[in-house]
Amino acid sequence: MIKLREAFKEHFLIGAAVNPATLDTQRDLLIEHFNSVTAENEMKFERVHPEEDRYTFEAADRMVALAKANGMAVRGHTLVWHNQTPKWVFEHQDGSQVDRETLLARMKSHINTVVSRYRGELYAWDVVNEAVSDSGSERLRPSKWLDVIGEDFIAKAFEYAHEADPEALLFYNDYNEADPVKSEKIYSLVKSLLEQGVPIHGIGLQAHWSLYHPSLDDIRRAIERYASLGVKLHVTELDVSMFAFDDRRTDLTAPTEEMLALQAERYGQFFRLFQEYSEYITSVTFWGAADDYTWLDHFPVRGRKNWPFLFDAKHQPKPSYWEVLGTIEKIGNTGRKTSL
Ligand code: GLA
Repeated sequence: MIKLREAFKEHFLIGAAVNPATLDTQRDLLIEHFNSVTAENEMKFERVHPEEDRYTFEAADRMVALAKANGMAVRGHTLVWHNQTPKWVFEHQDGSQVDRETLLARMKSHINTVVSRYRGELYAWDVVNEAVSDSGSERLRPSKWLDVIGEDFIAKAFEYAHEADPEALLFYNDYNEADPVKSEKIYSLVKSLLEQGVPIHGIGLQAHWSLYHPSLDDIRRAIERYASLGVKLHVTELDVSMFAFDDRRTDLTAPTEEMLALQAERYGQFFRLFQEYSEYITSVTFWGAADDYTWLDHFPVRGRKNWPFLFDAKHQPKPSYWEVLGTIEKIGNTGRKTSL
């Protein structure tokens, strides 16, 4: 079978999010088809730094070791986020809220410890995750980081990460990244960071998409807008849910033929687009590897399985896999580039 990583080697890295369980259960598939990995959870603040004086790197180290042994790249995910961050970060021992200087010092110390540990081993980091607001005209999402530090918490995070590893590529990462309103906010945020001379090198498009949403036009428009900033683009968390956002059905035990065909069509469109813009897009990471494990099982609808990847629950190629491979001939040799 043609390896995905081989098929796209002149276009972009092909990545998968992994966790301690899938490193075992999906090991062969990962090594065969992927040349980049990301920790689904194991590098997040709450996992590596549960208490102020205690870091826990075992699970993350194991992933990095497996990647190294198999010549895979590693993307770091993620340093500063409103979610999965322990309470102690924002509080004094007595429970009162810390001030700006204390929180900046904690952020700096966290970023420095984590990024330095993997210096030279991780080539890219999602430095700030999901800081932009989904709603209306509000620019930044309310969060403790924003409350306590102010808007420059984003710039500071990038500066600290760059100090800790000047070689690492630093990304701002977000979801609903193709939405016309939100993508404009993401664009403006990154533009203003660049104008201030903040060391940011790229935008991560999470790409949690579905059979129905977002439209190809919206995705193309967002990619063009982001690319116009002259930064690198990484697709960071790609999956294609079988269900529309408001679909609550729970009766299926396997995807229908129609779903599989639609998913293949969507994946084909996406990979054609990614290749068209491969001058900018240097990495495409799926948020998993095969349908036996996805965060979309039981989320947002309890008791419902999902099948969002190119490989089925037995790690066999789905119609989506064949469609994605088929896009390579159709696109020809254009848009190829030499460096990541
Ligand atoms: C966001 C985060 C990821 C992950 C997903 C859900 O996209 O960036 O780390 O938590 O939500 O699995």
